[in-house]
Amino acid sequence: MLTPELLERAVEILRRGGVIALPTETVYGLAANAEDELAVRRVFAIKGRPATHPLIVHLAGAEALPEWARHIPEEARRLAAAFWPGPLTLVLPRTPRATDAVTGGQDTVALRVPSHPVALAVLRALGGGLAAPSANRFGRVSPTTAEHVRQDLGAEVDLILDGGPCTVGVESTIVDLSAGPPAILRPGGLAAEELERVLGHPVPIRTASNVRVSGSLASHYAPRAGVVLVERAEAASRAEALRAQGLQVGVLGPASLALPSGLPRFDIPEDAAGVARFLYLRLREADQAGLDVLVACLPPAEGLGLAVRDRLSRAAAPRPPEA
Ligand code: TXA
Ligand code: MG
Repeated sequence: MLTPELLERAVEILRRGGVIALPTETVYGLAANAEDELAVRRVFAIKGRPATHPLIVHLAGAEALPEWARHIPEEARRLAAAFWPGPLTLVLPRTPRATDAVTGGQDTVALRVPSHPVALAVLRALGGGLAAPSANRFGRVSPTTAEHVRQDLGAEVDLILDGGPCTVGVESTIVDLSAGPPAILRPGGLAAEELERVLGHPVPIRTASNVRVSGSLASHYAPRAGVVLVERAEAASRAEALRAQGLQVGVLGPASLALPSGLPRFDIPEDAAGVARFLYLRLREADQAGLDVLVACLPPAEGLGLAVRDRLSRAAAPRPPEA
């Protein structure tokens, strides 16, 4: 619960250059006043994130767009009107308000209006922009509860606001509208079909690009356990074969999937939006259970299934020794 006293404390910390963790509908964010360069640098330091990877600036409402974006194409206005507040981030040409510290020196800025009431309350009370990446260490699983933030970064942030478990569960969909036709840079909590419904044309996913999107690194969103991706029909046999090699194996799959006895299930709903909501929690649980390998059933590549497949593929990608 966000009491008036807690809200006041959060805003005061932000005004004097502090860093707080706060809930959004997608994942918890590690937030600093976007116009305070030192505070923004501290966010990078806490996360252990390379300074060239830009941050998303969170705003209280679409009215603030012109303060941060110097050109707002008509399609950006339509998307903002349809989906803000919500899990959509727009990449647009920046104004000087978006500093190099936030944008990594790029001429564009990523902007989003989150829908979580706690995030909105803080943004309204602060009256500016909040630079906020996900509140996890670089390369690791994003937090969807305040407890996850405490476990990862607890000692290093000035305040953690608890807004309950995130309802979307995966990061926002990032759409580049800074030059040319819109393209999805990161599939996320808003389905591509929704964007297409409003724009009236397909919106391609652009993975190979020259903009730095750290979530687009092959090995990202990774638990400690290895992840093996399977179609549902082969989950039981793959898990059995891995177990026969002496590995601690678990299966990320819905209750309707029959498993051989003794194979732990990390339960996910049948629908992709449900999977998205529980995905990061289950990846954390797999680590807590000490698994060597998590055999993960892929949802169909539609709706939020795209974001889930994207995150699971990155979790399954080969990693550097201690990333
Ligand atoms: O749902 C979300 O988007 C969460 C919550 C906290 O709002 N935030 C989040 O932030 O996922 P982060 O920093 O973990 O991921 C932001 C992504 C990064 O991959 C970053 O590279 C990309 O946004 N990004 C930021 N500015 C950009 C820009 N100007 N052009 C292209 N990508 C950009
Ligand atoms: Mg992140």
